[in-house]
Amino acid sequence: MKSCIIYHSYSGVTRGIAEKINAACGGDLIEVKPKDNYSTLSAYSVGCIRARKEACDPISPDTIDVSLYDLIIIGTPVWAWKATPAINGAIVALKGCEGKNAVIFATCGSSAKDTLPIMKSALEKKGVRVSGEIVLNKSEISGNEKINDLITMVRAAADRV
Ligand SMILES: Cc1cc2nc3c(=O)[nH]c(=O)nc-3n(C[C@H](O)[C@H](O)[C@H](O)COP(=O)(O)O)c2cc1C
Repeated sequence: MKSCIIYHSYSGVTRGIAEKINAACGGDLIEVKPKDNYSTLSAYSVGCIRARKEACDPISPDTIDVSLYDLIIIGTPVWAWKATPAINGAIVALKGCEGKNAVIFATCGSSAKDTLPIMKSALEKKGVRVSGEIVLNKSEISGNEKINDLITMVRAAADRV
């Protein structure tokens, strides 16, 4: 069973969760970055408007070939109650993902609203089956319980493939 953990992280929180999944369950870490970096000002102005519109940023890497993986884990920070434009770009950039299983997660300050349902629907349109989803808010990120729930979810998904 081979898995990858695809994530975007503006300030390091989502990267930290991705690294905890990697430490507990293995999996290749694939960090996605927007080709045009956001400043603090442009993240809240341009980035949030793009997130609200569910726009896709041009990202590095240009394509993410997941054909060799059995399980895909995707993590996003929440911007303006939605996934970041970089993660929207990552979903578009997925290649070889049809029929694959996925677990998705989001980190946020307080509320993710429709972030994960929208991500799930975008993935399902590409033929990906999302078997687990979890949101971690600021207090849950500093504790262990929700992170352990996420790790349990990843292990269960890995056992099923
Ligand atoms: C531009 C921007 C917009 C944000 N919008 C939201 C939001 O709508 N809801 C929320 O709960 N947190 C929001 N946050 C907080 C982040 O989602 C949260 O701190 C997240 O864990 C950061 O992950 P990262 O360090 O991997 O970038 C926002 C942060 C930024 C920088």
